[in-house]
Amino acid sequence: MAGSDRQRWDSRHAAVSVGEPMPPSALLGRADVLPSPGRALDVACGRGAVAVWLALRGFVVDAVDVSATGLAGGAELAERHGVGERIRWVRADLDGGLPAGRDPDGGYDVVVCQRFREPALYPPLAAALRPGGLLAVTVLSEVGDEGGRFRAAPGELLAAFGDLDVLDHVEGDGEASLLARRTP
Ligand SMILES: C[S@@+](CC[C@H](N)C(=O)[O-])C[C@H]1O[C@@H](n2cnc3c(N)ncnc32)[C@H](O)[C@@H]1O
Repeated sequence: MAGSDRQRWDSRHAAVSVGEPMPPSALLGRADVLPSPGRALDVACGRGAVAVWLALRGFVVDAVDVSATGLAGGAELAERHGVGERIRWVRADLDGGLPAGRDPDGGYDVVVCQRFREPALYPPLAAALRPGGLLAVTVLSEVGDEGGRFRAAPGELLAAFGDLDVLDHVEGDGEASLLARRTP
C-alpha cells in the first residue's frame, strides 16, 4: 500500500470517535453458531469494534490493520472494556498477505474480515481456520449497486469459500456476507 493511502486511512480513523463493541455483520442474528471461546483473527480490524466484541466473549484475538490510528482506537476501546490483555494489535499491510506467525497453535476458531475486500486473501483466510472454525466475511458487492472495482462480483464469496460448509450467504443492497465453517 502506498504511504498516501495509509495516511488517508489514518485520517479517516482520526475523524471518528472510538465506537462500541459490535458483532461482525455476518453473525448478526446467528450468535448460535459462534464456537466456544478460543483464538480469533480480525482482518482489517479498523478501530477494533469486532475484535473487542470477540474479546468480551472470551476469545484471544489477533487484530490486524495497516492504520496505527485505527489500532490505537481499538486499544483504547479494549482498555475501556477491560479486555486489553486479550487482544494483540498487529500493524501490517495486508497487500503482502496475512502476517506471519499469527497462528502459533495451528489456526483460529473464528476469522473475521469485514468491509475490506482483497480476493488474494480469500485462500489464506480459509486456511487460517482450525477444523470446525468459523469464517465471517462481509464485503461491498456489485449486487444492488452500480458496481466498481472495489466491489465483489455476484457470487464471488460463494466461489471463493464454497469448499467450506456455508451456513449463510446474503447478497444485496451493495453488500455480500458469508458465514461458513471449516469441516471438522
Ligand atoms: C472500511 S474499514 C473496515 C474496518 C472494520 N473491519 C470494520 O468493519 O469496521 C477498512 C479497513 O481496512 C484497513 N486497510 C485498508 N487497506 C489495508 C491494507 N492494505 N492492509 C491492512 N489494512 C488495510 C483500513 O485501515 C481500515 O481500517
